[in-house]
Amino acid sequence: MNKTAKIFVAGHCGMVGSAIYNELIKKGYDNIVCRTSKELDLRNQQAVADFFEMEKPTYVIDAAARVGGILANNNYPYQFLMDNLQIQSNLMSSALNNSVEKFIFLGSSCIYPKLAPQPLKEEYLLTSSLEPTNEWYALAKITGVKTCEAIRKQFGKDFLSLMPTNTYGQHDNFDLQTSHVLPAMIRKFHEAKINNHAPVTLWGTGAAMREFIHVNDFANAVLFAFENNLAEHLYNVGTGVDLTIKELAMVIQKTVGHKGEIIWDTSKPDGTPRKLLDVSKLSHAGWNASISLEEGLKETYAWFLENADELRQVKM
Ligand SMILES: NC(=O)c1ccc[n+]([C@@H]2O[C@H](COP(=O)([O-])OP(=O)(O)OC[C@H]3O[C@@H](n4cnc5c(N)ncnc54)[C@H](OP(=O)(O)O)[C@@H]3O)[C@@H](O)[C@H]2O)c1
Repeated sequence: MNKTAKIFVAGHCGMVGSAIYNELIKKGYDNIVCRTSKELDLRNQQAVADFFEMEKPTYVIDAAARVGGILANNNYPYQFLMDNLQIQSNLMSSALNNSVEKFIFLGSSCIYPKLAPQPLKEEYLLTSSLEPTNEWYALAKITGVKTCEAIRKQFGKDFLSLMPTNTYGQHDNFDLQTSHVLPAMIRKFHEAKINNHAPVTLWGTGAAMREFIHVNDFANAVLFAFENNLAEHLYNVGTGVDLTIKELAMVIQKTVGHKGEIIWDTSKPDGTPRKLLDVSKLSHAGWNASISLEEGLKETYAWFLENADELRQVKM
């Protein structure tokens, strides 16, 4: 890879985008172009076309998206569908029109069918019904994966998609209205701890199983895909290990130091029963995760404490 070629990292302020940005800098890439959503709204087709005309990036890594947990997906279906369709389509069409050499798109493990066999292989995409609580986001992301595949097939361009499992780490969204399960638990346990170890209420039965990857591990996988010519258009990225939400709650409770009761609100949905990725394809290509959940959680809680006064509030 040419270390001075121009790379556009879309969504560089987000949890994933900022980790990718740091990983690129660490590896010596020094011509990275970025825009916040205020500077360039990626839903605006003309603005994106003008930006590509002006900047002419050689490579694009797309970490920009409307992202959120079950509650946000349920309350804002239109934004999760339309924002993501617009962001990714504008980026991909402008990249194609401006001869971008490599484009990395990020899907998500939650876009696989709700009841697909486990562990989830890449070829299970689109084989049965989606999880209803996030079907809007999933439909948009599936379209993104298929758009990359179509561009690869028709134009022979190196456009590919990575499918990360649940990602967590520094710069995560800890806003309880819109966050994913892991950062929401960190915040709830922390607030209960400083409130005399008050009880913590968590959603569902705790029986659902989930896999988590630290964002620095994921960023490292993105760099691996960036620097290597991978043969196919879609690769899962995870640790290959999962645990129940109840087990996750106990690890987080211990990391945070909360000593109170945990109450399970079983009137709330569990979501997909299990979501473990089959990571053998990327593993055979040469990449494996290396950060343990315990280590990743310690770092994430330390970051949360350091940044507690400046946590972002996500508006829909
Ligand atoms: N978090 C996870 O567990 C997870 C799991 C699987 C896949 N992923 C994927 O990873 C990618 C990044 O996720 P994340 O967790 O890093 O999300 P995030 O922290 O919410 O960051 C999203 C980024 O997208 C940018 N963005 C959103 N709307 C935009 C718009 N209209 N115009 C320009 N920029 C816009 C935001 O820019 P500003 O900050 O400037 O507004 C922000 O930098 C997404 O594609 C997501 O699907 C995440």
